Amino acid sequence: MSDSQPVTGIRIALGSDHAGFPLKEALKELLESEGYHPQDFGTFSPDPVDYPDIARAVAEAVVDGRFETGILICGTGVGMSIAANKVRGIRAAACSDTYSARMARAHNNANVLTMGSRVVGPGLALDIAKAFLQTEFEVGSRHLRRIEKINEMDKGG
Ligand code: RB5
Repeated sequence: MSDSQPVTGIRIALGSDHAGFPLKEALKELLESEGYHPQDFGTFSPDPVDYPDIARAVAEAVVDGRFETGILICGTGVGMSIAANKVRGIRAAACSDTYSARMARAHNNANVLTMGSRVVGPGLALDIAKAFLQTEFEVGSRHLRRIEKINEMDKGG
């Protein structure tokens, strides 16, 4: 356990494609050792799968309220973010540093974090995930107006 206080009750949907599979497995174990309980949406082996399928399952679980946040891992984090962002209501952020992860929550109210297994190792991935999970959106700030504009775009407005 680290010194920081994890919001361990947060419902996390975790998924990866085959490229992200080793990092997903490592991150799941590390998150569990920190007191989090991510739900694994697969993939469950290194056999090739299509990242949009996993991105969609995790993203839909977040927008329908079953999970508060999603973490998606592919080779770069890019494909997962592009795919997840196609689901209305998803604000997915591809992060490879802790500052971006904190800001993705504080300013962008991101509800999905994506990472690349060919970009970050397990230790950094855990730090990034914790930064994301432990940061609140700055409610009542100028950022809300901007999120509302994104929501309008989601509705086709
Ligand atoms: C799979 O080889 C790779 O293309 C995928 O994991 C991802 O990086 C796509 O964005």
